[in-house]
Amino acid sequence: MDLDKLFRKNLKTFSAYEPGEQPQGDGWIKLNTNENAYPPIPEVLNDIKNAVDSKIRKYPDPTAFEVRKLIVSVLLREQDTLTDRNTVFVANGCDEVLDTVFKVFVDPGDEVVFFYPSYGMYDVLASLYGAKVNEIKLNEDFSLPEPAFTAKGKVMFINSPNNPNGKSFGNAAILKICSNFPGIVVVDETYADFSTQSSLSLLKKAKNLIVARTFSKSFSLASLRFGYALANKDIINEMNKVKLPYNSNYLAQVAAISCIKNRERLQQQNKKIIEQRQLITEELNKYPGISVLPSDANFILIKFDDKAITLKFLWDLREKKKILVRHFSKAGLYNYLRVSIGLEEENRKFLDAFREIASQYL
Ligand SMILES: Cc1ncc(COP(=O)(O)O)c(C=O)c1O
Repeated sequence: MDLDKLFRKNLKTFSAYEPGEQPQGDGWIKLNTNENAYPPIPEVLNDIKNAVDSKIRKYPDPTAFEVRKLIVSVLLREQDTLTDRNTVFVANGCDEVLDTVFKVFVDPGDEVVFFYPSYGMYDVLASLYGAKVNEIKLNEDFSLPEPAFTAKGKVMFINSPNNPNGKSFGNAAILKICSNFPGIVVVDETYADFSTQSSLSLLKKAKNLIVARTFSKSFSLASLRFGYALANKDIINEMNKVKLPYNSNYLAQVAAISCIKNRERLQQQNKKIIEQRQLITEELNKYPGISVLPSDANFILIKFDDKAITLKFLWDLREKKKILVRHFSKAGLYNYLRVSIGLEEENRKFLDAFREIASQYL
């Protein structure tokens, strides 16, 4: 039997998402995949441990009722946004929110709009679902270009703050896009908890807006997979219809509830990350031949004047210092390294390593 003939045709040209390196063994400083530097706090870990009991024999609540209720009534209480639990969709990470948007809105051949550079999954999912892609290049300074405001299509993805540069786009621009775009606008706010900006308040004004969020980054739960979306009830209803029945597992729901209850402690930790982001940015900006882009996220993007030197830093950090940072071998990004903000101790080691390497190359 020729299996090749059985695979879906568009898989012939499909390229899978390339995740950042997850190294084997100990001793690495991992600043390459934007995980939260801090482990979950003991209270959250205890709640997870206590939940590992005979209940895992049973299926979880397929509607994640309790978490949805707490998201609107507690977590987002201070935000000027939707308040009905039926405006919340719960998923196995923000990635599943994105996938579900495709399932609900994108027929093969429909046009999907997103920006470059940005998070790679928009393109991966567009290819998987056979969508036509309109990839709009961001301006040199990573701001939105004019075509963002005139584009047509079924779904547009905006990542704010944007990965890999870390800057938010601002609500005035996003609202203008929502008014001009004839389809659905998804604002991926994976990193918004490290920023002072959010599009949540636009949900009351824009019926075509979906805001996608996650507990992976600001709540240190990347491995447990818990994401959610807020949008108009009709959209959420349709998303719930197509999701797999038990897409959000019991332990993830328990952990999410615990994070919401302990949110103030977690927000304090995130403040430290924001302070460290500022400190690292200031330190690195003292070097000649590089500049750090302004960031609202838990990572920074460093621009090097020289591509060869960029790669030397990447290599020496990894091979000599066991520090992983992210380089994208993609158009326009060869001269950049993206660095996640680590624990204070890790950041100090990173800055020490950077100084040593810089004394050779900068
Ligand atoms: C912009 C963006 N969106 C979504 C995700 C995926 O998030 P999750 O872990 O919630 O699936 C990531 C992960 O790095 C990301 O950078």
